[in-house]
Amino acid sequence: MRIEIVADEKALALRAADILCEAIRRNPHAVIGLPTGDTPKAAYAEFTRLVNNGAIGVGAVRAFAVDEFLGAGSGVSGTNAAFFAAHLDVGFGALRIPDSAADAADSHVARFSEETRAAGSFDLCVLGIGANGHIAFNEPGSARDSRTRVVELTDASRRAHATAFGSLAAVPARGVTLGVGDILKSRAILVMAQGAPKAAIVARAIEGAASPDVPASWLQTHANVTWLLDEAAASQLSIEARRAQPPPAV
Ligand code: GLP
Repeated sequence: MRIEIVADEKALALRAADILCEAIRRNPHAVIGLPTGDTPKAAYAEFTRLVNNGAIGVGAVRAFAVDEFLGAGSGVSGTNAAFFAAHLDVGFGALRIPDSAADAADSHVARFSEETRAAGSFDLCVLGIGANGHIAFNEPGSARDSRTRVVELTDASRRAHATAFGSLAAVPARGVTLGVGDILKSRAILVMAQGAPKAAIVARAIEGAASPDVPASWLQTHANVTWLLDEAAASQLSIEARRAQPPPAV
């Protein structure tokens, strides 16, 4: 695992956009998994700037949202579809997002699962980490071999989205997520975290035992994971973990 620690949100955004561009330059037909959340917003703004000024072409890239709420209306504020429309409208060859209007029993969910499977191994899966250690919507309790599926959201995760949906009551109780097993099939994984509130869970995910209690800890079992952290999010890592940083580029 690589741990890259940068000064602040701005540096994190630049580096994350850079890693996305590298993956697409390496394979213009790349299949990429993308998260929502506050963390990637600045990175997506930088990436959008690079696409719009012609620095990178994304017309052949196939992108998949790593998760979505279920049982909200289509395009309702707070859904991941609304997030991508607002923050990453770059003209990917395809951007597949589960239909947030679907309910758990809907065949649409099975179809999304089938599409991710048919896309094969992702070239790059980008992730954030929830305060409880979730990746995508793999909440605590998620097994290492869990697959794309419908999940019950924890109260903590629902509360984190109350503002975006307008109220806690409006946040759906369920979501659909790529499974931990699907994420681990990716050739490369980039996890971003910023801010002091993430410091304890980041340290636990990187240095604690790999277990379903902290789904992000399963990433320890993948050979090509980059943790991209700002100083605040890295502040509870041990000296040994900080030494795992690659040397600065010259
Ligand atoms: C959300 C999403 C995740 C995201 C995480 C962190 O609930 N389902 O995909 O990575 O929580 O969000 P944030 O970056 O806002 O802390």
